[in-house]
Amino acid sequence: MSVLEVKGLSKKYPKKDVFAADNVSFDVGEGEIYALIGPNGAGKTTTIRMLATLISPTAGDAFMDSFALTKNPDEFRKRITYLPDEAGAYKTLTGIGYLEFMGSLFAKDRAELEEFVRRGEAISGLGEKLRDKIGGYSRGMIRKLLIARAVMTNPKLAIMDEATSGLDVINALEIRKMIKELSVNNKTSFLLSSHNMLEIEYLADRVGLITAGKITAQGTIPELKARFKSDNLEEVFVKAVSENEVL
Ligand SMILES: Nc1ncnc2c1ncn2[C@@H]1O[C@H](COP(=O)(O)OP(=O)(O)OP(=O)(O)O)[C@@H](O)[C@H]1O
Ligand SMILES: [Mg+2]
Repeated sequence: MSVLEVKGLSKKYPKKDVFAADNVSFDVGEGEIYALIGPNGAGKTTTIRMLATLISPTAGDAFMDSFALTKNPDEFRKRITYLPDEAGAYKTLTGIGYLEFMGSLFAKDRAELEEFVRRGEAISGLGEKLRDKIGGYSRGMIRKLLIARAVMTNPKLAIMDEATSGLDVINALEIRKMIKELSVNNKTSFLLSSHNMLEIEYLADRVGLITAGKITAQGTIPELKARFKSDNLEEVFVKAVSENEVL
């Protein structure tokens, strides 16, 4: 069963001639990790920001539990969490203070809030550093905190735009492992975007390749490798993108 269904989602920004997202359709199943890949400016963030209810679609719609993004953005928003591609966090709060504040927006009572924060603490892997002010965190530490925040409330769907960008190899690996575990053990669904093909090969159950606003190829990684006669996803990416430039 699909957790998220995206149907013909399109976005034309004011004063632009072309659609940044053009009739984008895909679905994400329960516990599935779906990855959007594509060149810079292809429309990944635009698609993600529409689904995060931050910008409104020009056309098309998306559905979660039969709630439509366009008609019921509040119901839609309750079911997702969103990690932006570039994000800071309130520098004057401590890590734990931030988790408590963000948790309080989702928790129905004190007990649930405590459970969220406990989960967030464990997932962040930041240990005692959570007692420090965020102003003194490194980029990687902030990223870990934001990722912990995005999954601690048990969303049906966690949307993460370039989750591990800027992280060192060890931190990126830890975060990938955590995403995989949550999808397998917790049945959390993920919509990810990434430029790291190694990361996508490790994580993604299915991939949608966006070129110039359109999904031009979609499938499991073995399916895509077979279709583009490639041994790895980087080769798939290059072939799929160049194929679309010719057309
Ligand atoms: N706020 C905006 N106003 C106008 N045009 C925008 C805006 N945001 C994005 N665009 C344009 O929409 C297109 C898609 O951009 P988008 O950020 O969705 O790409 P992306 O796939 O996320 O790229 P990247 O890999 O660089 O993150 C680009 O042509 C971009 O210039
Ligand atoms: Mg982007």
